[in-house]
Amino acid sequence: MPARVLIVYNQPVLPAHDPQAVAERAVFDTVTAVRRHLDRAGFDHERLAVGRDLAASLADIARLRPDAIFNLFEGLGDDPRSEARAARAWESLAVPLTGCPARALRLAGSKHLAKRALAAAGLPTPRAVVVTSLPFEACGLEWPVIAKPALYHASIGIDALSVATDKAQLARRVEMLLSRYVGPVLVEEFIAGREFTAGLIEAPELVTLPAMEFEFDALAALPWPLMTFEAKWCPQTDEYRATPGRHGAAIPRALAAQLGDLAGRAFRRLGCRDYARVDFRVDAQGRPWILEVNPNPDLSPSACLAGALAAAGGDYAAFVVSLARAALARSPRRRLTRAAALH
Ligand SMILES: Nc1ncnc2c1ncn2[C@@H]1O[C@H](COP(=O)(O)OP(=O)(O)O)[C@@H](O)[C@H]1O
Ligand SMILES: [Mg+2]
Repeated sequence: MPARVLIVYNQPVLPAHDPQAVAERAVFDTVTAVRRHLDRAGFDHERLAVGRDLAASLADIARLRPDAIFNLFEGLGDDPRSEARAARAWESLAVPLTGCPARALRLAGSKHLAKRALAAAGLPTPRAVVVTSLPFEACGLEWPVIAKPALYHASIGIDALSVATDKAQLARRVEMLLSRYVGPVLVEEFIAGREFTAGLIEAPELVTLPAMEFEFDALAALPWPLMTFEAKWCPQTDEYRATPGRHGAAIPRALAAQLGDLAGRAFRRLGCRDYARVDFRVDAQGRPWILEVNPNPDLSPSACLAGALAAAGGDYAAFVVSLARAALARSPRRRLTRAAALH
């Protein structure tokens, strides 16, 4: 009997006019690609869109009884903690999930908690303070600093005004972030320098793909060189055009090795599984700093991870299928069936 895989993804909840809707809706491309490749590999598969009703998704999964869940649920656009919460609920059904476990989604999904865990393991991350209310003291940090909503990803809440050079600017920014976004704000030293992201794939050995660089066009007169929401999601903007991603960037060999080593250690430290991406900045002295770890990063065929895989000579279709197979291999039910067949 072919294995039955349920592709679970988020039902967009933000209205179409919301500036962040584009990021939330991007999951549809991934669902299309994953369906195509599972289909070609002979899997029996179905889709399940999950919105606000987590209990309904649990009932649906219990009824459908898949052998594995292909987890493309990135959380609801207005509820950043929902990604880890949903994964934890589905784990309770004892159906294996592709990608990172709920615990890693929760830890890495809280940038401040992830930083603490990375720092405790001796991994370099920029100095920072966590702000939960006003007024606050950005004690001891060196200017400039960047303020980020700690629970979000995809550069939500990051724009040209994210970087502050004095107390008044920072206070205005933090006040705005605290009022608009759920959760604390992370105020972090701004690392000027090259930016890289390194994809990791565990199939089953952990491999770090060559890092991709985000270039900052010096001629574009960006207020700050950084990957804002527009730079990531809005192709018609100057910021997008001025921040191209490049695979195969010239990286000194020692630095490439360091990025690979740090990415692998960060992956393990946060308890990631199957695939993840680690973002870096490299300072003027050539020292790499981990900005964040992305568990279950964007899996679409046009995203950084797929690009890095292709640049390294890997095959996206085979990768998608290997994720389903890895989850199935964790299925207690299929293990029992196989064991029964042997007797
Ligand atoms: N400490 C920092 N120094 C310099 N740039 C930063 C720093 N933190 C974040 N950035 C910029 O903001 C972008 C988004 O920040 P990141 O921590 O990766 O969050 P997200 O989860 O939204 O991708 C980064 O890609 C980088 O360009
Ligand atoms: Mg990032």
